[in-house]
Amino acid sequence: MNPMLITRHAEAQAVLSNPRYVPPPVRQDGAEGTLAWLRARVSRFSTGPAHAERRRELVALLSGLDPAALRSAAEALTRQRGGDWRGVPVAVLGAALGVADTRAVPAAAAGYLSGEESPQADAAVAELLKLAGVPVITLLLQAHAATEGLIETALKHAANDQDLDPPPHETPGQDLDPPPHGTPGQDIDLLLCETLRQDPPLKATRRLDTRTGDEVTIDLVAVNRDPDATDPALGHVPHLTFGHGVRPCPAPEHALALAAGVLEGLLK
Ligand code: HEM
Repeated sequence: MNPMLITRHAEAQAVLSNPRYVPPPVRQDGAEGTLAWLRARVSRFSTGPAHAERRRELVALLSGLDPAALRSAAEALTRQRGGDWRGVPVAVLGAALGVADTRAVPAAAAGYLSGEESPQADAAVAELLKLAGVPVITLLLQAHAATEGLIETALKHAANDQDLDPPPHETPGQDLDPPPHGTPGQDIDLLLCETLRQDPPLKATRRLDTRTGDEVTIDLVAVNRDPDATDPALGHVPHLTFGHGVRPCPAPEHALALAAGVLEGLLK
């Protein structure tokens, strides 16, 4: 088993599009209701037909949510909490998915991606299972750290005004363009798009090569900066911050809406 680090954009796209590369397998023998049990049942760590089916369920749930409504709810809740925005993204997402209490999410999310098991994470998963099924819990756990990471980084860049490179063209996102100039909220959309491109909240993702047994790490920061991948029409590298290929993030619009709503509650 050789570790391999991918820093080139084209190679990253090729790996992420090839079903021969799978997420590193997770243990399948966790006791019912624990974090390990949950990880064995989610789309994120499954492959083949099980992944396709589980992902379909998530996409169906997401299609019932209106990003514009998430955005205004996130703004309202951030204001209502006097700017104490931690927990706002999942509270808003939870309310839209019928989960009234999302306080157990951070403790469960802590081990969800890393696989680090703990009595606290198991207790938090047990709490969440009283309130929702695996697909809804998956969405909450996936959303939590990445969305809060994006908000935190965007706030840091907003405070340091000049530290992000300016967008090369009028419209900065490749497929998630912000509204035209002059629209309210446009500055926040621009800040988020540039933060996603230049300072992604998830720095890397991993795969196992099922043919060779090699572990592959894709460095998303390096890949987003690969000069060979510059798109002349955009004037920059199309970012892979939301993944690519077989299992990209199914919720980039929702993530941006939640983050933009919180920033509007804080900055406007
Ligand atoms: C800025 C915030 C976010 C970022 C940067 C992000 C990024 C990503 C990336 C890179 C992946 C793919 C991982 C891989 O290929 O190994 C992913 C998967 C996923 N994301 Fe997001 N995400 C964000 C927010 C959200 C939100 C708000 C939701 C739910 C509403 C969500 C739901 C998911 C799900 C369910 C998957 C697994 C997809 C699958 O198993 O096929 N994400 N995300």
